[in-house]
Order: sequence, then structure tokens, then C-alpha cells
Amino acid sequence: MTVARIVFPPLSHVGWGALKHLVPEVKRLGAKQILVITDPMLEKIGLVEQVTSPLRQAGYSVHVYTDVVPEPPLATGEKAVAFARDGEFDLVIGVGGGSALDLAKLAAVLAVHDGSVADYLNLTGTRALEKKGLPKILIPTTSGTGSEVTNISVLSLETTKDVVTHDYLLADVAIVDPQLTVSVPPRVTAATGIDALTHAVEAYVSVNASPTSDGLAIAAMRLISRSLRKAVENGTDKQARTDMANGSYLAGLAFFNAGVAGVHALAYPLGGQFHIAHGESNAVLLPYVMGYIRQSCTKRMADILNALGGNSSFLSEVEASYRCVEELERIVADVGIPKTLGEFGIPESALESLTKDAVQQKRLLARSPLPLLEADIRAIYEAALAGTIVEPNQE
Ligand SMILES: [Fe+2]
Repeated sequence: MTVARIVFPPLSHVGWGALKHLVPEVKRLGAKQILVITDPMLEKIGLVEQVTSPLRQAGYSVHVYTDVVPEPPLATGEKAVAFARDGEFDLVIGVGGGSALDLAKLAAVLAVHDGSVADYLNLTGTRALEKKGLPKILIPTTSGTGSEVTNISVLSLETTKDVVTHDYLLADVAIVDPQLTVSVPPRVTAATGIDALTHAVEAYVSVNASPTSDGLAIAAMRLISRSLRKAVENGTDKQARTDMANGSYLAGLAFFNAGVAGVHALAYPLGGQFHIAHGESNAVLLPYVMGYIRQSCTKRMADILNALGGNSSFLSEVEASYRCVEELERIVADVGIPKTLGEFGIPESALESLTKDAVQQKRLLARSPLPLLEADIRAIYEAALAGTIVEPNQE
């Protein structure tokens, strides 16, 4: 029997209108000078003001930092940390998608450390974090990344990614308010929503899954499968946006505690080499990876089918597992995400370099219920290029 290590952030406010808890939480944390790290686009459309104006009205000094780009490179992380070190801040608030939240976590913790961000990378760095750093409040504006509940900050290196991971990066408070997601365009709603679904699916089949993460993952899949299509079709659908916010939050907790695996491992090089958004990279690969590993986890795939609104009662476990893969394909297609790597402009000639980079994602690959070696990874990319699900050769 194994013992699961379960970690939740200490406090979250989740639901329509949750943002009203921001000022009381800032007061409770005893902050005076606040650094808000956010995406420039969110400032432009006035979303950041929804966060900053109640704080300013309450008398807080607020500085908004917007040097944030998608899939932030290491240099972007170094700059945000330098900025946090130079100021006299006593609280960091991250507002945005995964990139802004990841940078906020990083800046808050490294503000009280010496050295560069590169020193603290978990794959290639040499130093360990020693202090918790500044308090942080994380406010997601998309329903997908789960960054508000995890202890990970992801940074892009030249062709791949590395992370800074430590429980010091956990938010003191997460505020998940679906009201902030209403203006997210359909394409981003689709991509981030499938990212959340992928978190739940990968956590459920992970070798590190536990009864706790299973409960979170199944609840997430139910909410996401019933509401993602509606949220993409009509962004102002309050119930759909609320389901997606809750689903994404639950999926975040599930994968934080059980891990993600093959889909994320193969998706990272698509982001690194072709700058495809994280959610879309996962979405295009999800059916191919799950189809490939299907036979290693048929019972769990049958459970997933049921959570996605299907019914496995009159099917054998194997039949249900095939249906599950079909259902995943259907959801990805229904929200308008292309089916093949070619449709994202990825040529066959990229196969070798994608495979080479994905093999490096050992931390993720180790959680796959079917061990994925180099030949398996190549076969999955080939399948995604051809648009046909394949399974391992069985001799
Ligand atoms: Fe993800």
C-alpha cells in the first residue's frame, strides 16, 4: 500500500463574485505595497482595473507590472524577479492565465533570495529555495491552467521547458471568480478548457493517483464535459463559466497531487519549438496519447467515459475504453481544435527533434501508466501527424 502526499493551498474563494474577498484578504495579510503581475492585454481591456481599483480605493499602493508573455522564457522570469527585488513590496498578486500566475509565484519567492532564476531551476539549477518569500494572492482569468493551486512555475528554455517547484510557491490565497473569464475569446476558452480536462484525465490515470485525486479528477471531468462546449459557444453563459471555473480548479488540485504525464510531456516540445499555446498543444495530442496508452488502463478509461457523460454499463471494459478515446476526440473536435499536427504547421521533418525533446520530460513520463520510451513517443507524434490513433505493437 502506498501513502499519498496531499497538498492543498491554504485558502481559496471559488465562485461567481469571489473577487469581493480580495480587499479583506489583503487586509488580513497585512500588506501595504502591492505588486500586481499581469498580462498587458488584460490591462488594455480593463480587466486588471477590476482588481486594482478596489485596492486603491481602500488606500493601498498598487504597482502594475505587465512585462509578461505567453510561455515565459527564462529572461522574462529574471526580469520579473529583479523588479520584485527592487521594490518595497510586501504582497504579490498574480492576475491572468498560467504565465502571469507562474511569474507572480516566482517573483514573490525569489524576491527574498539571492542569485538568478536559473540557479533555482529544478532540472538544471544548483540551489534550493530557503524561504517562503512574500505572500501571494493568485487570481486566474482563464479556466484552465490550474496554476492558482499548484507549486510550480514553468519557464521556457531554448527548445524545451524547465520548472521551479517548491511548496513555497503555493498561493496564500487563490481567488477563482468566473466573472473574470466572461470576456475570454472562444479559441482561448477552448484551449484552456481542454488543458483543464487533460489535467483531470492525466491525473486520473497517473501512477500517482490516490482516492483523493481521483475524486477531484472525476468531479472536474463531469463539470468540464457538460459545460466546455457551452462556454465556447456563448462566453456569457454564467452557469457554463462557473462550471468551467470550478472544473479547472478541481482539475488543478487533482494534477497537483497526482501529476500529469504523457500528454503534457509530448505537448511541451510543440510549445518550445513551434510556439503553439499550451492548451492547444495538449488538445491536439490528447486523443493520440490516450489512445496509445488505452490498453494499460481500461478500467480507468471506462470511469472517464462515464464522467464525460457516456455510459459504460452495457459495455465490456475494453469496449468502454475505446469509447472513451472516441469521446475525447469528439470534445476536442467540438470546440474547434484541429485534429492533426500538420494543421498547426508542423512538418514531418520535425519528428526527430520533437521526440528528442519529449524524451527529456522524465518527471512527467514517469507517471504514465504505460511506460513511454523513445519509440513510443515517436509513434504517437507520427499518429498525430497522420491523424490516426495507433497502439503499441504487440508481439
Ligand atoms: Fe497543462
